[in-house]
This record gives sequence, structure tokens and C-alpha cells, in this order.
Amino acid sequence: MATSPVLTRPRRDLASAPFLVAARGERPAHLPVWFMRQAGRSLPEYRALRAGTGMLQSCLTPDLTCEITLQPVRRHGVDAAILFSDIVVPLHAAGVGVDIVAGTGPVVANPVRTAADVARLPELDPEQVAPVRDAIGLLIAELGATPLIGFAGAPFTLASYLIEGGPSRNHERTKALMRSAPDVWHALLGRLADLTSTFLRVQVDAGVDAVQLFDSWAGALSLRDYREFVAPHSARVLAAITEVPRIHFGVGTGELLGAMAEAGADVVGVDWRIPLDDAARRAGGAHPVQGNLDPAVLFADFGSVASEVARIAAEGRRTPGHVFNLGHGVLPDTDPDVLTRLVDLVHRQPV
Ligand code: CP3
Repeated sequence: MATSPVLTRPRRDLASAPFLVAARGERPAHLPVWFMRQAGRSLPEYRALRAGTGMLQSCLTPDLTCEITLQPVRRHGVDAAILFSDIVVPLHAAGVGVDIVAGTGPVVANPVRTAADVARLPELDPEQVAPVRDAIGLLIAELGATPLIGFAGAPFTLASYLIEGGPSRNHERTKALMRSAPDVWHALLGRLADLTSTFLRVQVDAGVDAVQLFDSWAGALSLRDYREFVAPHSARVLAAITEVPRIHFGVGTGELLGAMAEAGADVVGVDWRIPLDDAARRAGGAHPVQGNLDPAVLFADFGSVASEVARIAAEGRRTPGHVFNLGHGVLPDTDPDVLTRLVDLVHRQPV
């Protein structure tokens, strides 16, 4: 794998930042919270800044990327920033024809379905994501004591978009390729593991304080198939990151948490479907967990939000460590004031 030619920057001293303390399984000064998709359409200042600029272009324009990343930190006082980017940014940067269509998601011009398609996939040269590296440099100068989370899509979730050609409810072409042509499948996931590793290496060398691997659609798989067809590739990606905490997240992964923890994770991300203490047990009992408020609960009255927060915080206290988050991304119609109140409420929970 190619590494970034940029010298590793000295990492800021954030040892006591509650997010990083909790990620280490130690006791933070308060319960830390951030939100997946905290930057984005729920914020009017985001919609204003993005007007007229495409999603991928916004991810590759450092000052814009920096400003969008900072917006939710300023507005909500969350305990971590997450780099404004997308899982398909490294594919696009490497020259794969992919676009992000508003309201749909990633759309791939030429789906990847044969050995020849896989052989044609380009490698990612770190210089192709230089704007991401530069955005991280700008962010580190601005963020002070707030940690910055970098991220990438896991090989399976990226493969699903490439094979299906876009978002998929059933992942039928993906699962068919996996079974009918296992050699092509493993070659593709190997390529994607390389691309993801390069993208995360650039981010870590540029100074992010943690990384999250998004295997958003892994929950579509049986445990047996996850272990055979996916886990070894995710494990290779995660094994290459030793400098910062790694969060491993997927949706609907209640049956996979043990295997995802084994594949590599310092923190295991959990959706809203199972209690956090149960999730921590399933993950082997030694890992801090991240989650797990149902994003749809934010549309209920605030009393209902508060009782869910108290329940989740109590379940989190029965785990090796808890980073509060939603169970998946912020929904676009969420009232941003509810998110701000939620941050304040989480900070007032006992730890
Ligand atoms: O969390 C953050 O605030 C960082 C930003 C972030 C985005 N995408 C920005 C984005 C992150 C972490 C992602 C990851 C991502 N992208 C995932 C994994 C996380 C998850 O949600 O499971 C996936 C599966 C994608 C692919 C993708 N990109 C989808 C499904 C969509 C939504 C399509 C839509 O319009 O409903 C995108 C587009 C996207 N990525 C937007 C944002 C803010 C919306 C772009 C817009 O403003 O129109």
C-alpha cells in the first residue's frame, strides 16, 4: 500500500478529551456525544453554504470542507467533529465514475460485476485525495480541544454500491456475485481494502484523532457469510491503523457484533435495535460501545427523548465505555434545536 508523502504531524494533546477517554474505556468527565451525519441537511447554514456546489466537489474543496465540518461543533457543542466527506470520495478521486445524487445516494456509471471490471479498478494515489489532507490540516488548526474523527466506507458497503450501481434494498447482485464467483468477489474486496486503507492512512497521517469504518450495510448478511466473505477484508483495513482509536459501525448488526469486534475495533458502533449492555456482551465484553438513540425518536416530544436518553445512558454505564450517538445518521428533517438540547441533556447524565 502506498503511504502519504506528507510527514506525520504531531498530534494535539487531547488525552483528556471525553470522547477519547471513553473510547479508551476510561471514565470521562462527562458522557461524550457526537452524531453521525451531524454536518448536513438538518442545518440551514449547511444548505446555504452548499447551494450551487455538488456534494463531491464540497468534499474536495478544503476551506468548504473545513467550514461544513465545524458548523455542528459550533452550533451543538458536540464532543467530536467528523470530517465532512463521503464513503465514495476515494472511489471518485481514484477515477471511478460515481456521483452522489441528492435524495438517492451514490450512483455508479459502470457497475463492477466481472473479473475484467475488477481488474480495471484504479488504485488510489494519496495525492488524489490531497484536498482531504489539506482540509484536515485546516481543521486541526481550528478545532482546539475538540477531537476530529476521520472515516471510510468498509469494503463490503463500497462493493454493494459498485456492484448494484447504486443504493439497494436487497443487495441481490452483491450476494449473487459473492456466491457465484468467490474469486472475483475476494479480488474486488481486496482492491477495496487497499483503497480504504490508503484513504484512512492519509487521514491518520494528516492528524485525525480517531477513525470510523462504516460498514453500513453489513447487517444484510448472515453471520456465516459475514465471517467468510467480509470480515477478513475489513480486518486487513483495521489492522493497519494502530495510532488512533478505531470505531467499527454497521446498521442491523446485532448478530454480527462479536465478529465485527474480532475483525478489529476499539469501539463498537451499535444501532438502536438492541440495548447497549447486551451489545457490549455480544461484542465480547471488553469493548466500549457507541450509540444508540433511534434517530426517529428526535421527532417525538422532548419528554420522550429525555426518557430514551436516560435509559440509554444507564445501559451505557453497564458497558466498558460509552460514546453517546444516534443509532444511524441524523435524518434530514430533524430540528437542529432538538440536537442542541440533546447534547446538553447527554452532558448532564451521570457517568
Ligand atoms: O457524519 C457526518 O456528518 C459526515 C458526513 C458523512 C456523509 N456521508 C455526508 C453526506 C458521512 C460520515 C457519510 C458516510 C456515508 N455515505 C455512508 C455511511 C454512513 C451511513 O449513513 O450509513 C453511506 C452509506 C454513504 C453513501 C451516501 N452518501 C448516502 C446514502 C447519501 C444520502 C443520499 C441522500 O441524499 O439521501 C449520501 C450523500 C451525503 N453524504 C449527504 C451528506 C451530507 C447528502 C448530500 C446532500 O447534501 O445532498
